[in-house]
Formats: sequence, structure tokens, C-alpha cells
Amino acid sequence: MSGSEAIRYDRECGTCPPSHMSWHPDLLANQAAVVAGGGRGIGAAIARALASAGAAVCVIDIANDRASEVVDAITSAGGQAIAIQAELRDPRQVESAIDNAAASFGGVNVLVNVAGGMHAYAPWRRLADWDEDTWDEILDRNLRYVFLTTRAMVRHLLAAGTGGSVVNIASISGETSAPNHAAYGAAKAGLTNLTRTLAVEYGPDQIRFNAVAPGSVATPAVADRVHGNSAAPLQRWATPEDIANAVVFLASPLASYVTGQTLLVDGGASANFPLTTPTPIPLVNEEAL
Ligand SMILES: NC(=O)c1ccc[n+]([C@@H]2O[C@H](COP(=O)([O-])OP(=O)(O)OC[C@H]3O[C@@H](n4cnc5c(N)ncnc54)[C@H](O)[C@@H]3O)[C@@H](O)[C@H]2O)c1
Repeated sequence: MSGSEAIRYDRECGTCPPSHMSWHPDLLANQAAVVAGGGRGIGAAIARALASAGAAVCVIDIANDRASEVVDAITSAGGQAIAIQAELRDPRQVESAIDNAAASFGGVNVLVNVAGGMHAYAPWRRLADWDEDTWDEILDRNLRYVFLTTRAMVRHLLAAGTGGSVVNIASISGETSAPNHAAYGAAKAGLTNLTRTLAVEYGPDQIRFNAVAPGSVATPAVADRVHGNSAAPLQRWATPEDIANAVVFLASPLASYVTGQTLLVDGGASANFPLTTPTPIPLVNEEAL
């Protein structure tokens, strides 16, 4: 199965977010958002969704061609967007990218931390088979860079005194557990705790922090796994738009009293105790009832 065939989750499945449905364009009017890792997959869908809700969007990605493609799609649809190439693990590049976004838009007030993952960066192994460098890399790619982007953003927000909103893309792997990706689960669990902690630290400054924890999402990063049945009760993989819609809500004034929360968008996977009862189980003493 080729990557493009594998990734062909069914947009006409009847339950996926329909492509013609969009947010009200005034929802994020006069807001400017930075999407860290917005060049592809979930991040690209988030950038498009924020723009459709009226935000000016800065797409940061190490892959400039990807970021530019997303920006072209947004501007062709009438939105405002810029692409900035940066390595999010480099503090200087992060600070310069967020400074540039603020200068371009006259301020920034929404940050979405999307970059991360494990599939492309480390083999799935039990703990005894992990080496130190790979462990550190997964923590860097999923947790440490969020410290860098968030610190830069918060400094801007405190100076502007406007308040703002930060949404982190965590994972069901940080909420539950599964074998062979301990570093990833630990990093994402750390991210949800960081989200709560910062919500408390910066609540008085009206800066809200929330996270979205996806289950399995059909993106290019996991294209080789997007086949077979989903373990979610809703019986399909998430689309990137499923995740983006939750992010728009949390970033927007519709969620103005929501902070410190992690919203699981997993088709019910985390609610599912792994006991299957394929047919109704008869009552032991049915006739006596
Ligand atoms: N796909 C899933 O099933 C799934 C499930 C749960 C959580 N997530 C999380 O969602 C997020 C996005 O996943 P995705 O599948 O869309 O990933 P993806 O690899 O398709 O997209 C990530 C984007 O971020 C960019 N990026 C990565 N590291 C970067 C860095 N250091 N500096 C600059 N840019 C960088 C990449 O170039 C890419 O364009 C990740 O944090 C991942 O852990 C994904």
C-alpha cells in the first residue's frame, strides 16, 4: 500500500468533519497565532482552521517548503499568514521566529505547540534497549522545545499585557500507557503537567494554557500505520481536522474560562476498558426474572 493510499482516511465517511464546514470568520478576528510545527499533518490543519476562524497565522517549521505550502493555501483562501523556517530546538531561532511573527502582525496572542512525535525519530523498543541519545532526542522534540517557544511567547504577552492562549498537542500516550515508547509517553505526560502548571502560574495574567491529547490521527508521519481497524469506539482514525477543531475552540474566546485542561480527542479510545463482549451475555438466571 502506498503512503497516499494508506493515508486515504475517508472524508466522506459521514462522521469525519465535513470539508465545507468552517468556523465563523470573526471568532479569532484581530488575533495572531503562531503554530510551531505547522507545516504538515495536524499542524497544517490547525493553521488552516485558525485562519478560517479569522486569525493571522505564522507557520513555523524546519521544512520551509511545507510551511510555505500551508501559507499559500491560507492566503489563496483569503486569509493572512506567513511562513518562518526555524529549528524549534534552538533557543535563538525560536526567539527570533516569535519576534518576527509579532513584528509582522503587530503582536501575537495564540501559540500552538504541535511539533513532536516519535515514529520518525526512534525505534519502538522496551526501555532496556533505549540509548541515552535517543531518549534525550524524544524528550527534546516533544517537551523541551515547548519550554523555549512558551518562554518566548509569554515574555511577549507579559510585555503587551493583553493575555493570550497556549494550546499544546499532547497525546493519548501521555494519559494512558502502551509498551515500547516510554520516552514519548513520559514527554507527553510531562507536557500535560506543564500545561496545568503554567495555567496556574499565568492565570492572573489572563494567559490560558490547555492541551489536546489526540488518539491515532491519520497524518503523513504515521502513514505506514494508517490501515486496519481503529481501536477507538468511534471505529475510525481521527482526521487532522478533528484535532484542529478542538484547538480552535480552546484558543478562542469560546473557551475563555477554560484553562489547565487536557481535552482527549481520541474517538473514545481512552474510555474503553479492553474487555470485549462480542454478543450480549445472557443473564445466568434469566428465567427467574
Ligand atoms: N499522528 C498521530 O497519530 C498523533 C497522535 C497523538 C499525538 N500526535 C502529536 O501530534 C503532533 C503532530 O503530529 P503529526 O503526525 O502531524 O506530525 P508530522 O511529523 O506530520 O508534523 C510535524 C511537523 O513539525 C515539524 N517539526 C518537527 N520537529 C521540528 C523541529 N524541531 N523544528 C521545526 N519543525 C519541526 C515537521 O517538519 C512537520 O512538518 C506531534 O506532537 C505528535 O506527537 C500525533
